[in-house]
Amino acid sequence: MSFDFDRIVDRTHTNAIAVDGFREYLLEDPGQTLPCPDAEAIAMWVADMAFATAPVALEAMLDRVEHPLFGYTLSLDSEFEDAFRSWCRRRYGWVPDLEHCLPAPGIVPALYNLVDLVLESGDKVVVHTPAYEPFRSAVTHRGCELITSPLTRRADGRVSADLDQLAATLTDPAVRMFILCHPHNPTGHAWSDDELRAMAELCFANGVLIVSDEIHCDLLRTGRRHTPLAKLFGESDQIVTCMSSSKTFNLAGLGLANVIIPNDEIRARWQDRHFPMVNPISLAAATAVFARGDEWLEELKSYLDANFALVDQMLVDRLPASVFRVPDATYLAWIDLGAYVPTGLNLTSYFAQRSGVLLEGGEKFVADGGDCIRLNLACPRSQLEEALTGIIDATLALAHEPR
Ligand SMILES: Cc1ncc(COP(=O)(O)O)c(C=O)c1O
Repeated sequence: MSFDFDRIVDRTHTNAIAVDGFREYLLEDPGQTLPCPDAEAIAMWVADMAFATAPVALEAMLDRVEHPLFGYTLSLDSEFEDAFRSWCRRRYGWVPDLEHCLPAPGIVPALYNLVDLVLESGDKVVVHTPAYEPFRSAVTHRGCELITSPLTRRADGRVSADLDQLAATLTDPAVRMFILCHPHNPTGHAWSDDELRAMAELCFANGVLIVSDEIHCDLLRTGRRHTPLAKLFGESDQIVTCMSSSKTFNLAGLGLANVIIPNDEIRARWQDRHFPMVNPISLAAATAVFARGDEWLEELKSYLDANFALVDQMLVDRLPASVFRVPDATYLAWIDLGAYVPTGLNLTSYFAQRSGVLLEGGEKFVADGGDCIRLNLACPRSQLEEALTGIIDATLALAHEPR
């Protein structure tokens, strides 16, 4: 390996929410006691990585800082968009139109903007559940209603959409938007082309705009290839695609994402209301990784594959009644501990307090999180092993307690 993913980087005192902000953002009771000093808790909750970003990103940022002016900046020369489109061509065999590509400060802000631009108070938005919690606030902040379409999970952990339920939901004329999480957070399911076609056809038939949040799309298991939903429907202007180098290259704090809006009217409304100012350092980093980040990403994926294999093995050995399947995508492990934990236990608080591991329990997601925990595996293997041992011990301790 050319890159060192085993290295433990101390993130304390960098204002990282993963380590410096977890009390306020993660714990139900921010004053909760932990079995260790805060700095020694193992952060496996928020979806950013414990790995240093790609050297190409660092070099590009340092290079930009060498030029000592940081005034108002736009992506005027379209080097950023060209690098992004070239990335899309290499990685997905799909090239969005240059004029459809807009910068955004993040996917979550983009979702808020799209809801504002497209919907009226009282409109409804459908999401699969369990769902990433900010989907709820992006929808409800505008007085719109979030409608849930629960995913089906089989005994082996495989996930699929309930197309009949989705079809019934979409016929409500108040439903005007479907936010698709592709691949899906938290389950890590990568939708097949057939599933994508079926869901999209249902939306088109009911005049429902699709916002396809593809932020996790580069983090696939080695050998898999992502199909952007919009690639399957080249003629449609009813799919907004959200992508970003932030998840792929651990640049979330830089606040830059790509939103692709083929519909002329929605795009014009976006451009009317949002001046496309960008942070010059973010622009340099994102342009560099899209142009030259492939090698780092491939090594990252191999490292993640091995982390998933380790989790799989440890669960088979020590928690055989848990339900876990190595996901198609994301660096997130979604583990059902229903066979061990009492219903209603706040899993986030329990594991923090008992094992000093900061993870997200099912209660952190929009509906249907059940007795699952979501573990962020984008961390050095030694850390993963230590955390997982703590989680397993804490789970077994529960199983031995009288119910
Ligand atoms: C599905 C999904 N969308 C969006 C985001 C956040 O996007 P951003 O940081 O660009 O606002 C996340 C982060 O975890 C996510 O999982």
